[in-house]
Amino acid sequence: MRKVTRGAARPAVTAVLLGGLVTALLATPVPAGAVRAAGAAHWQARAEAAFQKLPLLPTPPMGWNSWNKFHCNITEGLIRQTADAMVGSGMRAAGYEYVNIDDCWMAPERDENGYLQSDPQRFPGGIKALADYVHERGLKLGIYSSAGTKTCQGRPASLGYEDKDAQRFAEWGVDLLKYDNCNNQGVPAIERYTVMAEALAATGRPIVYSICEWGANRPGEWAAELGHYWRTTGDISDNWGSVVSILDQQVGLEKYSGPSAWNDPDMLEVGNGGMSTTEYRSHMSLWSLLNAPLIAGNDLRNMNATTLALLADPDVIAVNQDWAGVQGYKTADEGDLEVWAKPLSDGGAAVVLFNRGPSGGQVSTTAAELGLPPAPAYAMRDVWSDATTETTGDVRASIPSHGSRMFVIRQSRPAQYEPATFLDVRTDTTGYVDAGATFTASVDFTNDGVTPAQRVEVGLDVPDGWSARAQDPTRFDSVPRGRTVTASFTVTAPTDASNGAYPFTASASFRTVAGEQRQTPGYGGVTLAETPRGERWISDLHPLTAHVGWGRLGIDKSVDGKPIKIAGVTYAKGIATHAPAEVTYYLGANCSRFTAEVGINDETRGRGSVTFGVLGDGQKQLAATEVILGNQPAQHLDVDVSGVHVLTLTTGTGPDNNNHDHADWGGAKVYCAD
Ligand code: GLA
Repeated sequence: MRKVTRGAARPAVTAVLLGGLVTALLATPVPAGAVRAAGAAHWQARAEAAFQKLPLLPTPPMGWNSWNKFHCNITEGLIRQTADAMVGSGMRAAGYEYVNIDDCWMAPERDENGYLQSDPQRFPGGIKALADYVHERGLKLGIYSSAGTKTCQGRPASLGYEDKDAQRFAEWGVDLLKYDNCNNQGVPAIERYTVMAEALAATGRPIVYSICEWGANRPGEWAAELGHYWRTTGDISDNWGSVVSILDQQVGLEKYSGPSAWNDPDMLEVGNGGMSTTEYRSHMSLWSLLNAPLIAGNDLRNMNATTLALLADPDVIAVNQDWAGVQGYKTADEGDLEVWAKPLSDGGAAVVLFNRGPSGGQVSTTAAELGLPPAPAYAMRDVWSDATTETTGDVRASIPSHGSRMFVIRQSRPAQYEPATFLDVRTDTTGYVDAGATFTASVDFTNDGVTPAQRVEVGLDVPDGWSARAQDPTRFDSVPRGRTVTASFTVTAPTDASNGAYPFTASASFRTVAGEQRQTPGYGGVTLAETPRGERWISDLHPLTAHVGWGRLGIDKSVDGKPIKIAGVTYAKGIATHAPAEVTYYLGANCSRFTAEVGINDETRGRGSVTFGVLGDGQKQLAATEVILGNQPAQHLDVDVSGVHVLTLTTGTGPDNNNHDHADWGGAKVYCAD
């Protein structure tokens, strides 16, 4: 896998360095000179002085927050029941501690003395009683306000009232403040957030300070000086796109993080229903590795066993709470396949092998790449399944779409554990085949461990209607350390199958030397796509994928359902997108030319600004336009696409946002061999 160069400042951390590094981090929890970069010595001094008086937070906070699931629909009853559920479910025992009330707890007006008060309908008993209730259960209470004149939901907020509000929070027994960014009146963030840090410090109560300015002002450079953790992005939502987009925004931020100073990629969505268990497990694995605050965002009162198991796995939490506090970071990236790793205080390393893509794939790294010293063997503990295997160095797995494997790797003596085994599922195609095609799928079984794998049997499952026939024997008596055996299958796709991605699942069963029966899973697949022949309108082909920034891909009409019309010229054929967009078509290396007239649809009445691009096989830029504005005449594209398997048509938003970016590909056509 291609290696990723880490974000600059933090030195490469190896196990050997850890002891010294940790001492340094605990002594100075704040990256030196961070606020200087923000250019405000006065505020830096004030921030540092205030933060010295706030409590330490040596490991990332764990708890629950009302926002992701309940938004404004909160009551004191919900908070009480959540505290009870945190205890009763075992979440408290797993380390979850803070019960955080988010926006909408306050009354619409301050009291006559200018103090915040709780909403009389929703929180009639007041926050103090709630804090007592939570404390009696061995938990802590968090509350919310905004560094603005109103909260994001329009309730009274703390800008200009910092002292009064902090004083009230302390009197009530509040243990944590999440401080948001709405209605901030344009006052610089460092000023607004420092004034509240000072107010919290002045109360004398140890209050954890959570800075929520959405990553808008490069918070890594100053927030560590005055808060315990800070949001790095906008709000998470309960879908896969949100998780991967937030993940991408964490790259390079690891240098700002350490004990009492944590990057916050936002709260967990685990258990809220919008993602599969596989996706939630990846979300939890990655957030844990990133030293994210583990703040559950689901309904703890009605949690099923799967959700609880995802939130409360002791080994996953132990990675997040490792006392060294070194944040995980991306170490390798090959398209959809990524490796994220985190050095641990005992000299081991945690790793997440991650497949964010639409089909199965193999993700690999090595003990050396994870910073472990040379050793004859390493123990690989799967933190989710609790199975430990051993490897002589390769750390790899076959992983389904949106899945991950999370291991903790440590040096060990050889022949201590069962061998780590690995399946690689490949085909002799480009990954794209026609309906009815026959091809070979091979499954490699490799013994990455020390002791042999015995009585190995390899199988391949294909979707309904497909057939897979073994070409040679699929049983192997014994596969010793370091050896690979291959089982090949003739696979035939049905003639009537529709286009799209088809997953294959492989499996190898074997016996360990102790006679235990084990299984190794493998994931692969192909995409069915028709190779275009002759001269074809693009709008008559089925796209492989179509991501459109707004509305739907228009086929021979605009995204508004009107004719494709650019600067007065109407095109009967063509496709219409809305920036930002990416649409892909299969050409199967059978076409030589692509032509189109590109521009903004007249329906925007002269508004909008876009760019158009053409890529070959996702990598090679074949054409790119300058910014095109509404009303400008169409630009003619004539592009050589010889040898291209997959054609990608992109539209960008131009220099502004994507308002009115109705981007048309008029008369788009490919010229292919018959
Ligand atoms: C902002 C924050 C969220 C949540 C809401 C409440 O959007 O980023 O986490 O607190 O406000 O209104």
